[in-house]
Amino acid sequence: MPRRAAQAFTAVLLAASTVTALSHTAAAADSLGSAAAGKGRYFGTAVAANHLGESAYAGTLDREFNQVTPENEMKWDATEGSRNTFTFGNADQIVSHAQSQNMKVRGHTLVWHSQLPSWVSGLGATDLRSAMNNHITQVMQHYKGKIYAWDVVNEAYQDGSSGALRSSPFADKLGSGFIEEAFRTARSVDPNAKLCYNDYNTDGVNAKSNAVYAMVKDFKSRGVPIDCVGFQSHFNSASPVPSDYQANLQRFADLGVDVQITELDIEGSGTAQANNYSNVVKACLAVTRCTGLTVWGVTDKYSWRSSGTPLLFDSNYGKKPAYDAALAALGGSSTGGGDGGNPGGGNPGGNATCTVSFARTSDWNDGYNGEVTVKAGSAPINGWTVTLTFAPPQKVASLWNGTPSWDSSGNVMTVRAASYNGSLAAGASTSFGFTAAKNGNNSTPTLGACTAS
Ligand code: XIL
Repeated sequence: MPRRAAQAFTAVLLAASTVTALSHTAAAADSLGSAAAGKGRYFGTAVAANHLGESAYAGTLDREFNQVTPENEMKWDATEGSRNTFTFGNADQIVSHAQSQNMKVRGHTLVWHSQLPSWVSGLGATDLRSAMNNHITQVMQHYKGKIYAWDVVNEAYQDGSSGALRSSPFADKLGSGFIEEAFRTARSVDPNAKLCYNDYNTDGVNAKSNAVYAMVKDFKSRGVPIDCVGFQSHFNSASPVPSDYQANLQRFADLGVDVQITELDIEGSGTAQANNYSNVVKACLAVTRCTGLTVWGVTDKYSWRSSGTPLLFDSNYGKKPAYDAALAALGGSSTGGGDGGNPGGGNPGGNATCTVSFARTSDWNDGYNGEVTVKAGSAPINGWTVTLTFAPPQKVASLWNGTPSWDSSGNVMTVRAASYNGSLAAGASTSFGFTAAKNGNNSTPTLGACTAS
């Protein structure tokens, strides 16, 4: 035990009357999915099959989201790497996980110029047409009845002012009719799945979104089957949330299609990022036919734009201000702090709960000791995680009876049980302690929720 910890025991006896305690329970936590459901929407995330085995990943996914989009696993290169040989293993993993958790699945994506195997681009027009229709047919048939909506065609239009189709094997060899053909084939395979067109840089009113708008209008007038339009909504400083975002969603909805935010991520941090998330959520809620939002990943750690920290959970699965803002915009309420996302991985909706309290057990000129007591709820638990947020420039100098990790700011400490104190009988307690260096700041850290598994 560190020398200062030993000092603390004496101090605790002397200062017991000044101990303060805070208490939170994970059981009271709201979630993005349940808050969105309260507004008649879903709140989803992109998921990668290879992270499902990570308990904090799966725990956060299952606790917070009620819709998933496979991030890469349903793309052409993943499902039909060689002609007419289909591989569904990784996508199946995501779909069965989603089904076991009652989550909707968005199929992503059938016809796209990117992540397209080279055998497809090498085909002549006649072959390409049959390969496209066969791909749509086989993939949709495999998942028939399990997909609420398909991104049938993804990113068919050019950026910029031309309003033209993007050059791709499909557009170049089959002409603009390939989009209509893809939608007609899709409808014939699974008439119960919603069929969507999905794109980026179409989030505000501009030449590209005008071109998509004209296509949807034309499809509706001619009876070409289309049910929805997805707005990817990848935002950063070069491509900020447009001021006419809501108006643009509304004008598409007015054509008689549902609209969805399909790949939301907003680079940034802190209040600015939080405000942007809040505005996007509010825009969707303000449009009756905006049926749900999907963020493009669970945690910044695995984001395709990781360096821009664009998501709602930090690398340690701690809730960011953007999370609180999104949840508040949905009418939910946060228990505050990150909570490590059910690190035991088991039964997040079950009755494994814990509460925590914090005591500042001793103080000296440039440091203090803190003690956190973790108490199991009415059921036994196998593990626990607690988050503490420190006011910079405070630093934790040592910690005992727990396993700490820090977020990228260095101020948010997530502590999970040590190997010997994770299992607690119903109502039983354990504690861990730490020594913090004040570095001129005397504040007490903020205690987050306790998550049990
Ligand atoms: C991205 C994935 O997130 C990455 O892992 C992959 O390397 C490239 O594709 N538009 C889309 C998504 O429709 O499928 C893309 O996903 C991001 C842009």
